[in-house]
Amino acid sequence: MLELIAGALWAMLPAYIPNNAAVLAGGGRPIDGGRTMGDARLLGDGKTWRGTAVGTAVGVALALALDAAAPAVGDALGISLPGFPINAALGLALGAMLGDIGASFVKRRSGRERGAAFPGLDQLDFVVGALLLALLFAPDWTLQVFTPARVAVVVVVTPLLHLATNGIAYWLGVKDEPW
Ligand code: CTP
Ligand code: MG
Repeated sequence: MLELIAGALWAMLPAYIPNNAAVLAGGGRPIDGGRTMGDARLLGDGKTWRGTAVGTAVGVALALALDAAAPAVGDALGISLPGFPINAALGLALGAMLGDIGASFVKRRSGRERGAAFPGLDQLDFVVGALLLALLFAPDWTLQVFTPARVAVVVVVTPLLHLATNGIAYWLGVKDEPW
């Protein structure tokens, strides 16, 4: 059980951190450059080049750090933890950002303003993006690491982690809404 949950969360960490890093690094030019589709913004001011680039870079850097720490942490817990080839790390981190960007596109099309909540989509958009891009960039690794059991753990635990970290970011005053 520990092996299953720890392995699943460890493998997802490079996808969990990018969105939080983007919150801290965000600002500057929006990706959509102010363009609209219909009468709403394509993505909105909440999706910026800087936030996306910094978020992706932080996710990849974290994967490298996790690789360095895996033997010691695995020994301490008595389990073996997955490693991250660079293509897998990039797929998870960039995929998480793209999933969140895709969600903003969907939110704007459904009439939601920047910052509006979309329960379900908000909590899992980046998981779907991360797993899909990892599958594209590192198919063998993704199929081997993300077993059905680990994916199930990720789908159940991620919304809880996401709500907790965004709640903390809101409480600290670095995020405008608690979702
Ligand atoms: N952010 C960014 N670039 C991204 C994602 C996030 O710059 N690709 C920054 C923005 O400053 C954004 C903040 O992180 O306002 C919070 O992210 P998020 O909640 O995803 O954006 P919202 O502002 O709520 O906009 P949306 O409704 O489109 O999700
Ligand atoms: Mg938001």
